[in-house]
Amino acid sequence: MAYKRMSAEEAAALIINDDVIGFSGFTAAGCPKAITLALAKKAEAEHAKGNPFKVGIYTGASTGDSIDGALSRAHAIKFRSPYQSNKDMRNELNAHEAQYFDLHLSELPQYLRYGFLPKPTTGILEACEITEDGKIYLTSAVGIAPTIARLADKIFIELNKYHPKELAGIHDIYEPSDPPYRKEIPVYSPSDRIGTTYIQIDPAKIVGVVETDLPNEVGGFTPSDDVTNKIGANVANFLSTEMKAGRIPASFLPVQSGVGNVANAVLGAMGANEDIPPFEVYTEVIQDAVIDLMKEGNVKFASGCSLTVSTPVLEEVYGNLDFFKKRILLRPQEISNNPEIARRLGLISINTALEADIFGNINSTHVVGTKMMNGIGGSGDFCRNAYLSIFTTPSTAKDGKISAIVPMVSHLDHSEHSVKILITEHGVADLRGLSPIQRAETIIENCVAPEYKDLLRQYLNLGQKGHTPQNMKSALAFHSTFNKTGDMRKVDWSEYEVI
Ligand code: COA
Repeated sequence: MAYKRMSAEEAAALIINDDVIGFSGFTAAGCPKAITLALAKKAEAEHAKGNPFKVGIYTGASTGDSIDGALSRAHAIKFRSPYQSNKDMRNELNAHEAQYFDLHLSELPQYLRYGFLPKPTTGILEACEITEDGKIYLTSAVGIAPTIARLADKIFIELNKYHPKELAGIHDIYEPSDPPYRKEIPVYSPSDRIGTTYIQIDPAKIVGVVETDLPNEVGGFTPSDDVTNKIGANVANFLSTEMKAGRIPASFLPVQSGVGNVANAVLGAMGANEDIPPFEVYTEVIQDAVIDLMKEGNVKFASGCSLTVSTPVLEEVYGNLDFFKKRILLRPQEISNNPEIARRLGLISINTALEADIFGNINSTHVVGTKMMNGIGGSGDFCRNAYLSIFTTPSTAKDGKISAIVPMVSHLDHSEHSVKILITEHGVADLRGLSPIQRAETIIENCVAPEYKDLLRQYLNLGQKGHTPQNMKSALAFHSTFNKTGDMRKVDWSEYEVI
């Protein structure tokens, strides 16, 4: 079957107000980039004529600017799920211009299949190759593409020749059956291949192919600094101590590492630690540090959902595909982030918290309790089910005016029951087996910044009673003081009634 070739503008013309679009990609890797730019222009033109024009958006995770940025600036998004990290998108959803449903990433494909969310009417998938019988070979990520390809009636392909056709073979496409027919997902080790290298769809659903030659829009990483290096060293030293104590096998366990600069520094420190043997990665985002460690032989295999690497690193991977295709698999997020597999493989999960409290609860998403930062991402998929769930965070933010460790989190994403270890640049709090008061003492002594230690010790001594000694009148005093004065260090407990 010969597919109709069209321009991005012609494709955008076929998308109508209230359509619900599902995209390939995960982070800025593997996302379409051309049709959405044309769609943003169409939305602006419709708005200028006084016509409504908004669409619903499902993606794997965050996207490049050509999806979230362009469509937000055009005020063209009606609702959005499951994750974003774009400044303009963040402004839209915090202003309630777009409705945001923040969801565990592994759950979105099944939410769509179960009919829990509006059905995707349209799919836009980036491919490096497509065959006449409907085999789609994706590019540098998978995300929710297999489910979108099956559910959407109208599919547009962005055939992007920036990605070599030889990438075909790096993907492992597998969709579980839905209950009551679901069986075990047969991944017993990170390198197990369980599906096909392509997505198969009915060719009749492909309404158009847009040819492009566009690089991914993955930003570079901020170089590690003193704080992220210390956090990385604390994680690596903790893991080597666990090995020596016999709580991690000598062959080590697969590692899941979150997004951002702390995650990159942690992986770098693990590679540099001589006690940690070469290990495997079972994660969602394969970042630059994983590729560096793979070249050095410190990472043996990486299973992920995306190659979220900077452009020079991606070009290096593409230039050495024979080497990397033997060591990397890209899977749908339903499999890369699957709780069943995380528990079976015994993952060591390392994610970054925005805020933690002295009892071990974690806020991954909301700045001072109200403003959405990015979303929960895969942190919950992994931490609840990991062998060892570690959360890292710099102990302070905004030049010390914010303590990342507070009496009570201002928003709860991961409860104390899912958090085993908390690590900052100051040290490690091992929370396993500790009561709430013991957890508080351990976190204050080991993880809190010096200028906040006394304030938190005083909080614990406010006279409150009970198993978890929270003081309901002052539990959020750090946040209300920050809102009033711009500095949490100005908390004055004498203003609070002792109960
Ligand atoms: N209160 C208020 N603001 C805070 C804060 C706190 N406790 N801690 C950090 N911030 C601010 C920082 O100052 C920074 O602000 P800026 O953008 O104005 O500079 C911003 O939040 C981001 O902090 P930074 O230290 O640069 O974060 P990061 O890039 O390491 O990301 C998270 C940290 C928590 C936002 C990120 O890891 C995330 O989105 N996590 C949730 C999803 C997840 O865990 N995914 C991984 C699963 S695989």
